[in-house]
Amino acid sequence: MTRNDMTSLLISSRTAPAKATDLHAKASPDFAAKLAETQALLQRASAEFAPVTQASSLGAEDVVITHLINAAQLDITVFVLETGALHTETLALLERTQAHSRAPIHVFRPVSESVIQFVRDKGQDAIYKSMELRKACCGVRKMEPLARALKGQRAWITGLRQEQSNARAEVPLLDESEVATKGLHKFNPLARWTWGDVWHYIATHQVDYNPLHDQFFPSIGCAPCTRAISLGEAFRSGRWWWEDEAAKECGLHVKP
Ligand code: ADX
Ligand code: SF4
Repeated sequence: MTRNDMTSLLISSRTAPAKATDLHAKASPDFAAKLAETQALLQRASAEFAPVTQASSLGAEDVVITHLINAAQLDITVFVLETGALHTETLALLERTQAHSRAPIHVFRPVSESVIQFVRDKGQDAIYKSMELRKACCGVRKMEPLARALKGQRAWITGLRQEQSNARAEVPLLDESEVATKGLHKFNPLARWTWGDVWHYIATHQVDYNPLHDQFFPSIGCAPCTRAISLGEAFRSGRWWWEDEAAKECGLHVKP
């Protein structure tokens, strides 16, 4: 083998796509108990808290929850906030999910006039200029559609996990803190799952997932605000990477 052959072999082996399932799938010792707990919680949500809906970003956690809802044929709808700034990979997964899911998938988009006005008034790159402007963009593209998605619901289901960040370390399985202000129960059925558990489920059930996860995007949001992370970086460090760690929430899960 020539030196050139060796070099191209090295380059091609380095660039061979890594599968997130191969990299991350590793069940916790008590995975069976956690899965049973999650399934029971979803059953309870649909039986006692109807109407209930799942918020799905189409990230790894959310495709697991939708799969569990479909497998148990639960009476739970799914909604996706299609911000108009999602990656093409996420939009393609949305289309596939709409085609295959038993549970209805509802898509909520921002009011286009509000987006046009925001870009016209504040500029195309406004989100990188200040946190205030970035949050204003989240307000227009996510928070307003979220309010529409949750209207008339008694409960919602999210893919929040305790392991995702310090700010989420206390996420409970059932969060009642929005009951008084919004009349909403919030279920976080994967609260105690590890990243390994999530990928173990995806691998075992061959769940369709966002291929960006194979490119080192553990947490996926809008394209302008999400990038791949390097080895050793925190789980959410690819989100709003130019901002302080403590500020990395878009408002969807900020406590009243
Ligand atoms: S975010 O607040 O920073 O965007 P993250 O991406 O970690 O949150 O997602 C946490 C949970 O919020 C997801 O599991 C999902 O339940 C909900 N969520 C986030 N983005 C969306 C979206 N675009 N559409 C619907 N739900 C979403
Ligand atoms: Fe706007 Fe970025 Fe928030 Fe998406 S995540 S709504 S692009 S600021």
